[in-house]
Amino acid sequence: MRLSSAGSGTVARSPVHHPLFARYYARLSVGAETRLGMAGIRERLLAGLSGRVIEIGAGNGLNFGHYPAAVAEVVAIEPEPLLRKLALESALRVPVPVDVVPGVAEALPVKSEAFDAAVLSLVLCSVRDVTRALGEVRRVLRPGGEVRFFEHGRGGGRMMVLTQRTLDRTLWPAMSGGCHLARDPVAGLRDAGFELGPQRRVLLPERGPRLPTSYCALGTAWRPGEPAGRRP
Ligand SMILES: C[S@@+](CC[C@H](N)C(=O)[O-])C[C@H]1O[C@@H](n2cnc3c(N)ncnc32)[C@H](O)[C@@H]1O
Repeated sequence: MRLSSAGSGTVARSPVHHPLFARYYARLSVGAETRLGMAGIRERLLAGLSGRVIEIGAGNGLNFGHYPAAVAEVVAIEPEPLLRKLALESALRVPVPVDVVPGVAEALPVKSEAFDAAVLSLVLCSVRDVTRALGEVRRVLRPGGEVRFFEHGRGGGRMMVLTQRTLDRTLWPAMSGGCHLARDPVAGLRDAGFELGPQRRVLLPERGPRLPTSYCALGTAWRPGEPAGRRP
């Protein structure tokens, strides 16, 4: 879904348009690199990747500087216009070639089986349809291709989950660019047919108060299709 001229002569609106959230996220996320240790998490998320990579919902491009030199090309999909502009600026500052492309996870504008790896970082909370989005990730990965994910989701016990669900039904998605707090990204990957690899729970922030956004998973999954012995 690219921004395109409609037949009427007007310009079609991006399918994801959250100008206030985009401005807020652009500022908050840069601070979180050091304050919440996000830079270190991004480094771990992307370590060891190589070949052609697709990043879904790249935001303002904070992952770009962490791709290893063995990555030949990153196609970074970002639907939100302001965040995409910032991602384009970020792409110009990094050594690995990054092509920033408009589009949504539910209809990726790329060919099937074209990528060695897909990166999902804080995006499954925000897509409109997780099942379709992960179906698309499967389609565009080659057999045996790898998913690297860092996602927040449901966690923290009964009261916290109740709080997450209540916020999801009320204020949170409208305030936070469509984000949901009580999704289960790891179960989503399994249900979509990915084989789960190593993963670890991460609390954000690591110390201090637990927030509805604190419960994160950092890990790896594979599109089935390659014998397990050939994996790194
Ligand atoms: C919390 S931000 C995370 C940005 C970035 N991945 C990061 O790690 O900082 C969520 C991102 O998902 C994008 N997004 C929202 N809905 C999407 C969709 N349907 N398809 C792809 N990206 C989407 C938003 O525009 C935003 O850039």
